[in-house]
Amino acid sequence: MPLRRVAILGSTGSIGVNTLDVIRSHPERFKVVALTAGKQVDRLAEQCLEFNPAIAVVADADGAARLSAILHDKKIATEVLYGPEAMVTAVTQSNCDTVMAAIVGAAGLVPALAAAKAGKRVLLANKEALVMSGDLFMQAMQSGGGELLPIDSEHNAIFQCLPQQFTKAPHDYLGVEELWLTASGGPFRDTPISELSVVTPEQACAHPNWVMGRKISVDSATMMNKGLEVIEAFWLFGLSLEKIKVLIHPQSVVHSMVRYRDGSVLAQMGQPDMRTPIAYGLAWPERIDAGVAPLNLTQFSALSFTEPDLGRFPCLALAFSAAKTGGTAPTILNAANEIAVAAFLDAGLSYLRIPEVVEKTLNHIQSVPASSLELILEVDAQARQVATSLMSEMNI
Ligand SMILES: NC(=O)c1ccc[n+]([C@@H]2O[C@H](COP(=O)([O-])OP(=O)(O)OC[C@H]3O[C@@H](n4cnc5c(N)ncnc54)[C@H](OP(=O)(O)O)[C@@H]3O)[C@@H](O)[C@H]2O)c1
Repeated sequence: MPLRRVAILGSTGSIGVNTLDVIRSHPERFKVVALTAGKQVDRLAEQCLEFNPAIAVVADADGAARLSAILHDKKIATEVLYGPEAMVTAVTQSNCDTVMAAIVGAAGLVPALAAAKAGKRVLLANKEALVMSGDLFMQAMQSGGGELLPIDSEHNAIFQCLPQQFTKAPHDYLGVEELWLTASGGPFRDTPISELSVVTPEQACAHPNWVMGRKISVDSATMMNKGLEVIEAFWLFGLSLEKIKVLIHPQSVVHSMVRYRDGSVLAQMGQPDMRTPIAYGLAWPERIDAGVAPLNLTQFSALSFTEPDLGRFPCLALAFSAAKTGGTAPTILNAANEIAVAAFLDAGLSYLRIPEVVEKTLNHIQSVPASSLELILEVDAQARQVATSLMSEMNI
């Protein structure tokens, strides 16, 4: 396999760190050429010292000054940039051929789209890019001529269970009847609903099976994450929404499944460790050692699957509804959720009010066709404003 030149958007996060862990074990296959972070300057500096990228980007000028000083002291020649446009520069000017899109939230959309347009191999962890701009993103991939490989474990599993030709002809179903996305049900799967009003961010972030960033951990607890994944799957695989199902599978062994016309159901199984899908995306179509312990199925007395209770998980119902509405509704859903989750994590919003903020914001703004990036970003900003003022009206 020729050396792949990798840019990592969001290298200081959970996916970013796992990506570097896989790359670290395969220096003959991968060279890191660009790294971007938000606020964690010291962690990015350590990564630059180890991987020596051509470009490193942080969110603001103060962080850039600090990073430059550290790298200068250590005689590392990495070019340091900052701000949202520099995230795009990291993709377009670093001579990378592969981009791991792992910035959390809407902030990751523009650089991920730039990677799509530039014809890169895009390893897509940032599901928000497809949730907000699925149509534009898929068109950008097509016109750029690159490869799109899903990193979300469920979508990666489905990708693995689809025939190879599917990537060339995504709208030819090749006998595919349904996609079954599995969900652990999160830390509150069995918690009495009456106790949910007092759960803390720490409890919400204590996922039973996966170690992830804080925002996605809360989304897993509310199952908004699964809702966003349904929308992501809709765009990635081109099946109608009715053919995308969600199953609660507490053991997190089966990462998702594809049901075929002839009665076959193909499942991808493995440890709940993101290094598996990351390694798959980095080396595709080859398979490399991901550093993941082998799965021992005899450890499990049973693997169970049930349908989710939408009463317990109203965020999942809201996501299904926004997906059905289409247009900018998923952007509004996503933006309001980001604001509500941030308020839950840092400003004392009650856990049960997350779906309330999202629903009220969706009711407040009418969905229109998501016809351009400018419009999507405008609606995103509007939804954030509306969600914020709704919360202040609710005395939050
Ligand atoms: N973690 C998982 O297991 C998992 C699984 C499937 C999909 N995903 C998806 O992958 C994405 C990343 O998730 P994560 O869990 O890795 O998140 P995370 O640990 O919170 O990391 C997020 C990364 O994005 C950077 N970032 C955040 N806001 C930014 C901004 N405004 N500008 C520039 N950079 C910014 C962060 O930088 P700083 O930390 O330096 O501020 C960090 O590098 C999300 O879209 C998530 O849904 C994650």
